[in-house]
Amino acid sequence: MSVEKKPIDWANLSFGYLPTDWRYVSVYKHGAWDDGGLTDDPNVVMSECAGALQYAQTCFEGLKVYTTVDDRIVAFRPDLNAQRMYETAKRLVMPPFPVDRFLSALDEVVTANKAFVPPYGSGASLYIRPYMYGSGAIIGVAPAPEYTFRIFTTPVGPYFKGGVKPLRLLVSEYDRAAPNGTGHIKAGLNYAMSLYAGLEAKKQGFDENMYLDSQTRTYIEETGGANFIFVTKDGKVVTPKSPTILPSITRRSLISVAREYLGLEVEERKIELSELPEFVEGGLCGTAAVISPIGSVTTRDGEVFLPSGMKEMGPITKKLYDTLTGIQYGTIEAPKGWIRTIV
Ligand code: PLP
Ligand code: COI
Repeated sequence: MSVEKKPIDWANLSFGYLPTDWRYVSVYKHGAWDDGGLTDDPNVVMSECAGALQYAQTCFEGLKVYTTVDDRIVAFRPDLNAQRMYETAKRLVMPPFPVDRFLSALDEVVTANKAFVPPYGSGASLYIRPYMYGSGAIIGVAPAPEYTFRIFTTPVGPYFKGGVKPLRLLVSEYDRAAPNGTGHIKAGLNYAMSLYAGLEAKKQGFDENMYLDSQTRTYIEETGGANFIFVTKDGKVVTPKSPTILPSITRRSLISVAREYLGLEVEERKIELSELPEFVEGGLCGTAAVISPIGSVTTRDGEVFLPSGMKEMGPITKKLYDTLTGIQYGTIEAPKGWIRTIV
């Protein structure tokens, strides 16, 4: 498969928005989703009284599409994004977008934008942003009468600047909690409410926040846009178990990779902040973050440095990273059903 690619400096892309030629749109009216299709219009017009604008009845997903070593265009576990968005929609009293429709819409919009899919070896990928919102007017606090599902795509590079330079995190004084088992709910997960907290941390020279559980402020939860993994002194991978973090597909995949590809022991459990000094490596994991190593975490009692250091990823984190990205780029055989070949 060879296509004329757009003249983009792939290797130097950051995690930014670069509009591509096509986006997908489907509208739910009078109790049913329409057939949907592609549009070249990147602008959204809706009522001033739309449920999305007034009561934040809106959610999104995030996944990536890659060019593999053998020149296929593939998506990584998009069925899990479709399923998570389905659950999120139900929680927000929105009509769920059917999983099979989500997958065929993905195929359609990626195929139309294939000239924007970064080539193998560039380190970049096509980020896919499905989102849904109450587009109908509603003034009483109630679900909107009409919904829109859209997918836009944008070629992206690394989420954190500086490659794999370990990050400095600040334990946040602010709360952040996701409604049980759901995905990217903009109001519920407090993406907007996290902006202030994130900027505060950055002003103080940190790269990101580490959020604790809101109820007891004892357990490690997640960051603004990623989950956590840690490695213990005896080489065990541990990752927070909590109903109030986003159920990361990357984290779920890394648990399998650690167990089945690397033969490591994995524990998904509550992790106390006070356990930090016992870890030798740590990382942020997510679609955008992939695995970004943690260098230090600053708590009220001072800065805790992880033994893996401030220069590079720890060895187990690196093995996880190499295996996961190998599966995504087709250099390592994927578990059955993880890779959807689109083109
Ligand atoms: N946590 C939050 C708050 C996120 O926004 C994301 C991003 O998607 C993740 C975790 C990671 O989830 P996933 O691995 O499914 O991308
Ligand atoms: C993702 O990793 O897809 C995210 O959603 C993170 C952030 C850009 C919101």
